[in-house]
Amino acid sequence: MSGSDAAPPRRSHGRLKPVVSVTPRDLMDGRKQLAGAWCAKVVTLMPEVFPGVLGASLTGRALDQGLWALDAIDLRTFGEGKHRNVDDTPAGGGAGMVLRADVIARALAVAQAAAPGPDRWPLVYLSPRGRPFDQAMARRFAACEGITLVCGRFEGLDERAIEHFAMEEVSIGDFVMTGGEIAAQAVIDACVRLIPGVLGNAQSTEEESFSAGLLEHPQYTRPATWQGRAIPEVLLSGNHGAIARWRREQAEALTKARRPDLWAALAREGDDG
Ligand SMILES: C[S@@+](CC[C@H](N)C(=O)[O-])C[C@H]1O[C@@H](n2cnc3c(N)ncnc32)[C@H](O)[C@@H]1O
Repeated sequence: MSGSDAAPPRRSHGRLKPVVSVTPRDLMDGRKQLAGAWCAKVVTLMPEVFPGVLGASLTGRALDQGLWALDAIDLRTFGEGKHRNVDDTPAGGGAGMVLRADVIARALAVAQAAAPGPDRWPLVYLSPRGRPFDQAMARRFAACEGITLVCGRFEGLDERAIEHFAMEEVSIGDFVMTGGEIAAQAVIDACVRLIPGVLGNAQSTEEESFSAGLLEHPQYTRPATWQGRAIPEVLLSGNHGAIARWRREQAEALTKARRPDLWAALAREGDDG
């Protein structure tokens, strides 16, 4: 066999089983009952993936400081029979499996035991069919006492559970993932950074993308020139009025070009006075 016909060498992708550090999960333990702290309860078949990225950096430090609490509830423990089955085949046939309403109900009886009503503690089912998650929703959730997030798997939840518990269906985008865990972490991250004291500089949540219905202006830092590209002169002028005007113009131009939907919503708001 010539060299070019030879089968390509088998490539090792290394260890496929991720090694989970013990430390981030420790952050969850013993913090479930923190009085007054915003709390995220997550009903999931994969509790071991929490806190995941939420255990790092600012959200991790805030979790450690007790500024918020996380409770990952293992759906499997509420399953049926010896094998703790949580799913069954779809009524009417078709591919995949559906999470059982009675199993979800048992998990929610625990998760929601002490939770106040949905105005103060939303019950969310992460679902591609849901209302698109946005900054306004993050602000609403963060202003509550806590949130319970139900992560689907397989083909999702039996519709009767969604209806019975009046779950709010929330999507993180027009694509389909294998489960709700990444979506739950995205939603929690967006909420936690709005909790007072989590970010060093509270102003940064007031001026960032979506806060005023606009995308954020471009950001620059040292070096002053990189690859022949200079930082826009106005940003180095020290003229705060001119800088604010430049940033506003840039934010408007970016929003118009990239998000005509946001731009139109802003124009409608302006028309309504
Ligand atoms: C394979 S999906 C189920 C998709 C469902 N059969 C459908 O077509 O709408 C499994 C789970 O992943 C989660 N999921 C997938 N994509 C999502 C998205 N874009 N936003 C939020 N959750 C998502 C949901 O919890 C869902 O129940």
